[in-house]
Amino acid sequence: MLEIPTKYARAGHRAGRAGEPGREADITRKPSTGNEAATSAAESTPPGLRRHRLSAQDRFIDWFQSVAPYIHAFRGKTFVIAFGGDVVADGRFLDLTHDLNLLAALGVRLVLVHGARPQIEVKLKAQRRRGRFHKGLRITDDAALACAKEASGRLRVEIEAALSMGLPGSPMAGADIRVASGNFITAKPIGVLDGVDHMHTGEVRKIDAAAIQKRLEDNELVLLSPLGYSPTGEVFNLALEDVAASTAVALKAEKLIFLMDTAGVTGRRGELLRNLTVRQAQGLLARSDASDSDVHLYLPHAVRACEHGVRRAHLISGHIDDGLLLELFTHKGVGTMITPDPIETLRQARIEDIGGVLRLIEPLEAEGILVKRGRDRLEREIGRFLVLEHDKLLVGCAALYPFPDERAGELACLVVHPDFRNAGAGERLMTEIEGRARRQKLKRLFVLTTRAEHWFVERGFAEVGVDLLPGQKRSLYNYQRRSVVLVKRL
Ligand SMILES: CC(C)(COP(=O)(O)OP(=O)(O)OC[C@H]1O[C@@H](n2cnc3c(N)ncnc32)[C@H](O)[C@@H]1OP(=O)(O)O)[C@@H](O)C(=O)NCCC(=O)NCCS
Repeated sequence: MLEIPTKYARAGHRAGRAGEPGREADITRKPSTGNEAATSAAESTPPGLRRHRLSAQDRFIDWFQSVAPYIHAFRGKTFVIAFGGDVVADGRFLDLTHDLNLLAALGVRLVLVHGARPQIEVKLKAQRRRGRFHKGLRITDDAALACAKEASGRLRVEIEAALSMGLPGSPMAGADIRVASGNFITAKPIGVLDGVDHMHTGEVRKIDAAAIQKRLEDNELVLLSPLGYSPTGEVFNLALEDVAASTAVALKAEKLIFLMDTAGVTGRRGELLRNLTVRQAQGLLARSDASDSDVHLYLPHAVRACEHGVRRAHLISGHIDDGLLLELFTHKGVGTMITPDPIETLRQARIEDIGGVLRLIEPLEAEGILVKRGRDRLEREIGRFLVLEHDKLLVGCAALYPFPDERAGELACLVVHPDFRNAGAGERLMTEIEGRARRQKLKRLFVLTTRAEHWFVERGFAEVGVDLLPGQKRSLYNYQRRSVVLVKRL
């Protein structure tokens, strides 16, 4: 059995610090014991508390079920995860191994790429030397290369040791991770850049994707160091980001993930940009001049990877506990995701969307915010629905019911998933429904609502009496629900 309760207690405690309320806040309310224990606790507690505990259990089940689509989507896929040498130096890699172990257990094929910058610096310092850099790249002289080789060797051993843990009762219990490494990277010298000889600093020339795939197919985790070899037998010191992006492209990886020092890509006002298309990322890079930031180091490689077949690149903070899992298994994530194409699409609903639409509307039906629609009715009426898809998940829907004889239409079932509200999704759906209504030559669009009256009023609707509803709708009006009737002229 998965060590779920332990993980919850841990994730819940930490999620608060991650500054991501909402979905993550639910995690904090998960039971801290297994099912049986929670039930017996519920039996011995006063009724009020019992309700709370049972609903916490329900939330746990909801949360667990909400993760299922990700588990399906990730199984058998390749993730390339890159992190700097600081993650190992300051002990954060131990936490990361727990997350990697979980991903491996879920069938994700993992390739890790480690950096070694702080370790190289320490070694150079011990020799009273200083690292030299040009545009963020190390200039690797003989001494720096010797330090890079030593540092990578040592890091590899430390990473392998951490991945070999498996103590009973720990998050690594039962883990059986085999680590593979080898001469998978062919490198060539960078040469002279802007008049600066980079000596033993190289760039990736070729990745032996077939050899890496073989290891992954054998359920091994592949660990890559930022070193490459040339056909002449020379060793080159490589940039972590180059190795990671080139490997992700060569493997046609599902995801390339960079763990950085900063939270992700931020906008003009310092706000975290959660989704960027390749075009948007290129625009940002062209406008910004913070050339020494982590984002400037990693974003161009994330863009390059997405342009060459990698489906998603993620830039996330390596300082958020369980940040990797939160990024991968929650809608919002904790960092920035870069995609080749826009991640949200608004489209006509199809019969296979019924499950997703039901998941959106059922909680609101239960609260009495929407009138109940059964699966049968939805199957008959799915042609009237639009859905908003975010990274293959349905996050919004709306329907148009036309009354052509009266040149009117009803906007119904406008719902946005709570995690995606306040970002313009509702307005997008409403505008699209209005466009549909206009194309059908309807003159009035009305809506019945109990809780979102002001939302519609702020968007041009005005309250009218029930008698102004189209005849068919008027005869069905439920006076007990006391919905407000609003109309917009098109
Ligand atoms: C109403 C709803 C569709 C809005 O979706 P959304 O994607 O959050 O909407 P937008 O992002 O376009 O608009 C957000 C703005 O509306 C405001 N808002 C959200 N719900 C509101 C409500 N019920 N009343 C008044 N204002 C509301 C937000 O505060 C925000 O305002 P701000 O930008 O000034 O901060 C969504 O809240 C929802 O699904 N509600 C439950 C279902 C429902 O009531 N549907 C309507 C009847 S069919």
